[in-house]
Amino acid sequence: MTTAILSALPEEQASLVARLERAQRLTHAGRSFWRGEMCERPVVLALSGIGKVAAATTATALIEHFGVARIVFTGVAGGLGDGVNVGDVVVAQAFLQHDMDASPLFPRWELPGYARTRLDCDAHLSTLLRDAARNCLSGAGRLPGLDDGAHRVHHGLVASGDRFVSSAQEARQLREGLGLAGHNALAVEMEGAAVAQVCLDYAIPFAAIRTISDRADDTAHVDFAHFVQTVASRYAEHMVRGLMQTL
Ligand code: ADE
Repeated sequence: MTTAILSALPEEQASLVARLERAQRLTHAGRSFWRGEMCERPVVLALSGIGKVAAATTATALIEHFGVARIVFTGVAGGLGDGVNVGDVVVAQAFLQHDMDASPLFPRWELPGYARTRLDCDAHLSTLLRDAARNCLSGAGRLPGLDDGAHRVHHGLVASGDRFVSSAQEARQLREGLGLAGHNALAVEMEGAAVAQVCLDYAIPFAAIRTISDRADDTAHVDFAHFVQTVASRYAEHMVRGLMQTL
């Protein structure tokens, strides 16, 4: 049973590739994939690219071409919810596309043809990811690179869309608009909902973990770049290895 580990950016994937055993690089659909083993279990590492379409193509290739049995996304996100701070981790319970709007034909944020707004993640995989994240952020698992302080593991809704959210005003509008409709989004990113939708189409378990790199505010682009270069990859590696040991 092969597990796909999907990251958005090469910087986020670097430590995973470095620790891959029996690594073999393959090209398909204009993308690089790494086949190998992690903790003696078969994996394929892939880059989703940035944005929903690139992520959907990669997820489809992983399922159709590489025959993976489940997909785990690891990457960074902007914190939207109260108390979701840089260095915290969000394990997604569900995703929605915050830029989906086929109103008035369909209710705002509903996926036409799917009769739903939210795409749930696999509960079992998500529980394993939460355990791995807690282990990473506490005690022995703790990695250098973040300011000292108690970083938390959150579990909840993540909003995806083809926008890098980089102003406090936009973040507030997004949070409040979704919140008024009962969607309490903890974080925002650009790929997860697309991968979740492909996994729903193929009935493949999907789970995602996002370390908070910025607060989606006016300094988001600076915080994001710094975080991705200094911390994200090592956190991803640590949490993914923790997960693989329990699969
Ligand atoms: N990924 C990380 N930070 C983000 C942000 N502020 N907006 C969208 N995607 C992100």
